[in-house]
Amino acid sequence: MNDHRINDVVVLGGGTAGWMAAAYLGRALGPSARITVLEAPAIPKIGVGEATIPNLHKVFFDFLGIPEEEWMRECNASFKMGIRFVNWRTPGPGQAEPRPHEGGRDHFDHLFGLLPDHAGLPLSQYWVQRKLAGQTDVPFDYACYRQPPVFDAKLSPRHSDGTRWASYAWHFDAHLVADFLRRFATEKQGAVHLQGTMTSAEVDQRGHITRLHTEDGRTIEGDLFIDCSGFRGLLINQLLREPFLDMGDHLLNDRAVATAVPHDDAANGVEPFTSAIAMSSGWTWKIPMLGRFGTGYVYSSRFSTQDEATEEFCRMWGLDPETQPLNHVRFRVGRNRRAWVKNCVSIGLASCFLEPLESTGIYFVYAALHHLVKHFPDKRFEPVLTEQFNHEIETMFDDTRDFIQGHFSFAPREDTPYWRACKELELAPAYRQKVATYRAGLPVSLPATDESGYYGNFEAEFRNFWSNANYYCMFAGMDFLPEHPLPSLAYRQEASESVDSVFAEIRREQERLLATLPSTYDYLRQLHGK
Ligand code: FDA
Repeated sequence: MNDHRINDVVVLGGGTAGWMAAAYLGRALGPSARITVLEAPAIPKIGVGEATIPNLHKVFFDFLGIPEEEWMRECNASFKMGIRFVNWRTPGPGQAEPRPHEGGRDHFDHLFGLLPDHAGLPLSQYWVQRKLAGQTDVPFDYACYRQPPVFDAKLSPRHSDGTRWASYAWHFDAHLVADFLRRFATEKQGAVHLQGTMTSAEVDQRGHITRLHTEDGRTIEGDLFIDCSGFRGLLINQLLREPFLDMGDHLLNDRAVATAVPHDDAANGVEPFTSAIAMSSGWTWKIPMLGRFGTGYVYSSRFSTQDEATEEFCRMWGLDPETQPLNHVRFRVGRNRRAWVKNCVSIGLASCFLEPLESTGIYFVYAALHHLVKHFPDKRFEPVLTEQFNHEIETMFDDTRDFIQGHFSFAPREDTPYWRACKELELAPAYRQKVATYRAGLPVSLPATDESGYYGNFEAEFRNFWSNANYYCMFAGMDFLPEHPLPSLAYRQEASESVDSVFAEIRREQERLLATLPSTYDYLRQLHGK
């Protein structure tokens, strides 16, 4: 029988995506395929501060067999239990502290984890019923989740004995991750690491890439090429001419100014969440790690110059723009029409990018790797494999694009030309349908499983990635409420009353956690041996 197996996989690019691809494919394919990574040391990787989502460990590091503590230590990782949105409702310039808002403060949390159920309905439906009847003034996040008071107190998602009480993700240093995975792939899996700049490539009569050429005269042959060359898309866009579909008509932001700020953890604690702070023409991330936080203002060049953005950003953190090292990044928003063309699969920034508001960049990388392995070809490159893979990537991307666009569309702010322009962008039909569902008081995209089933089964999660809890956190957080409670609740008075005990249990649990959890700072110091 003929052996059609792929023998040589060539990864172009040694950023986070390139080394994640090398390690993941090394594990999936074993010794039957040789993996070569070509990286140009002269062309820097993006490497800005990274936040992630909870399935990173299960889908990626677990698959590689690397324990959480090990990679956390190597990558200076910290915990993230969700995203705190600051000042998305009140007008004003960039300000890290939440402004006053309706007797409270202008912040709300987009939390990981699913909502508890009561009598067959998620808690969101009962909260809406009470809120619209004027029976509660507790915000959605504080009423339905245990985490928000824990955020305020900067406590840990793990108890002192290491047991976790909440779903969480991580913040880490992107350069350390790429470096750790490079060592793992080369030392433990035998991947070949070549340093050099690709200058040209050859394509055969079928349109398949056959070899890459480097500046210093080397030739690298392969059967399958993974384009991880970043925004340049050297193989997929430049060589194979696959169009990049620009999505600037959905999302306005296309620039960032980023830096790292030293932080006195002992005096101020370490926040176990990412912050997303609304600015005049975009928003700023704050990603806490031990000893510092990574931060960046993501803005739209249509509404702010680089100087204006830098000035607002530096003023917010009390930084001197003349002396502070600043990283100015331009990015493209959208995806390749097809992520996989012929024998070239684009992954990472070479494939698609959405601004980092929901920290999906790295998720897109390992989700693509999961689907590549599932649809892995042999040298015959059966088209159905490619088509199904491309369909998965397209659906994943467009769904997330719409979810993020909704954040800007439904934010009450209208105080600057940027925020007004966000409201004028058209929403995709699939998303409009979800909004209509929400307005009618119904759960939106309810997962057919509980939290452990959801996070324990990547396919289940992938097919229902933004689910009811996500929509309610965001919409209710931005004071956008359904028009009326779920009509069927009017016939279920018993359920509407007995749900009291669920809300009361959440309050008791919040108090228990506040009394028993270690601080995030203490927990991380112990974990990192500092
Ligand atoms: P990257 O650009 O890092 O690497 C490209 C590689 O290709 C480099 O090694 C380069 O040397 C190589 N290369 C280029 N040309 C070459 C040539 N001719 N020959 C050889 N090699 C060549 N994601 C996330 O999950 N959470 C987050 O919080 C953020 N935040 C964020 C903020 C901002 C402003 C941006 C722009 C992006 C993010 N991301 C993110 C996305 C995340 O940074 C990104 O998905 C990963 O770092 C992957 O990057 P790549 O490896 O694809 O490209």
